[in-house]
Amino acid sequence: MKVLVIGAGGREHAIAYKLKQSPLINEIHVIPGNDAMINVATVHTDIKETNHDKIVAFAKAHDIAWVIIGPEQPLTEGLTDKLQTENINVFGPNKAAAQIEGSKLFAKQLMEKYDIPTAAYKEINSKTEALDYIQTCDFPVVLKKDGLAAGKGVIIANNFEEAQDGIEILYPEENSTVVFEQFLEGEEFSLMTFVNGDYAVPFDCIAQDHKRAFDYDLGPNTGGMGAYCPVPHIDEAMIERTNRDIAQPIAKAMVNEGYSFFGVLYIGAIITKDGPKVIEFNARFGDPEAQVLLTRMESDLMQHILDLEAKQPIQFKWKKNAVVGVMLASKGYPGAYNKGAEVSGFTLDGQYFVSGLNKIDGRYVTSGGRVILALGEGSDIREAKVNAYEAVKQMNSDALFYRNDISDKAIQKL
Ligand code: AMP
Ligand code: GLY
Repeated sequence: MKVLVIGAGGREHAIAYKLKQSPLINEIHVIPGNDAMINVATVHTDIKETNHDKIVAFAKAHDIAWVIIGPEQPLTEGLTDKLQTENINVFGPNKAAAQIEGSKLFAKQLMEKYDIPTAAYKEINSKTEALDYIQTCDFPVVLKKDGLAAGKGVIIANNFEEAQDGIEILYPEENSTVVFEQFLEGEEFSLMTFVNGDYAVPFDCIAQDHKRAFDYDLGPNTGGMGAYCPVPHIDEAMIERTNRDIAQPIAKAMVNEGYSFFGVLYIGAIITKDGPKVIEFNARFGDPEAQVLLTRMESDLMQHILDLEAKQPIQFKWKKNAVVGVMLASKGYPGAYNKGAEVSGFTLDGQYFVSGLNKIDGRYVTSGGRVILALGEGSDIREAKVNAYEAVKQMNSDALFYRNDISDKAIQKL
């Protein structure tokens, strides 16, 4: 069959790379894709991810059996709904269900109603009220902008002054919606869960992301600076508890409220002394979690999607190897950064997944904040980390930076 992947980043590069290995698929297209994907798919950079009409027309004209949507924006903007109107199969939730990621408030209200463990919160719709609130609230407090923000709409304020600065940023005008959340202490992990209505199947391998820009979890939040899997120090019992207390109830809650979710639900969880709690939901694969998970996955992703559609058992198979991925980002990211710097030394054989590079006159140059993920595999995390940083060293560019401590939380506990 023919499939179409939507998206342009490293996650979509990994999805296309993984689908290429499926015996069920004989043709892969990507819209808009990036220049590094040409070994695995036909790339259509001339079609914009936001041009839904063109995407629908393309899928019809090319007899696409499945469209697999990578990023959140086309989901929250209703690309799935448009494709489904034309009877095209889509992996990725419709606009209404994607609110679980698109609106922090929607997710919070749902969790509150169905008693799904998460941080206590307060919705504040005006700057004046927000400034009053921080006079009396406990610190640290977490401020979250209501809409999509590419991982950058969250501010952790340790004291009154930081909260004041956060309010200046998140209320560009008097009326804006911000969720103020209780700060939770603990270790985070990412659990991808296949969801089709009330049928929810969590991956039996979790990943851990590194959200902050710099070593030791310092610096601002980013989209993710590196990830690894499996996570040996977070055991099966914790995954099972997350399934019981979060994955199953949220799938049922969505159905109860009249939403039909079909795709991957990303559960960003934190392990507190009272058990796992939800930090965030996403309506799609994590980036860079997808890159490490799909590298480790031995079973057929397309078969899993078909089994999910049929509500059949999903049998995951994973390599024995651990996988570590280190993100190289443009210096300055997640703030302002330059584009157009040359990057070389990497290969396109599954050891690197490209997020932000364009090929111009035969050379790859940077075109985004997060640029490329370098991967390493090994018999344990320690060896995988060594190999990942070897892959980093193969690359040449002084325009990029990366963290040195990806996967150290696991290595310290080996
Ligand atoms: P989010 O976009 O909601 O995932 O938030 C980004 C990052 O901010 C998370 O991965 C956490 O590291 C941190 N964070 C968000 N909410 C909280 C919270 N309630 N307590 C502690 N840390 C949080
Ligand atoms: N890596 C976090 C995310 O995809 O949202």
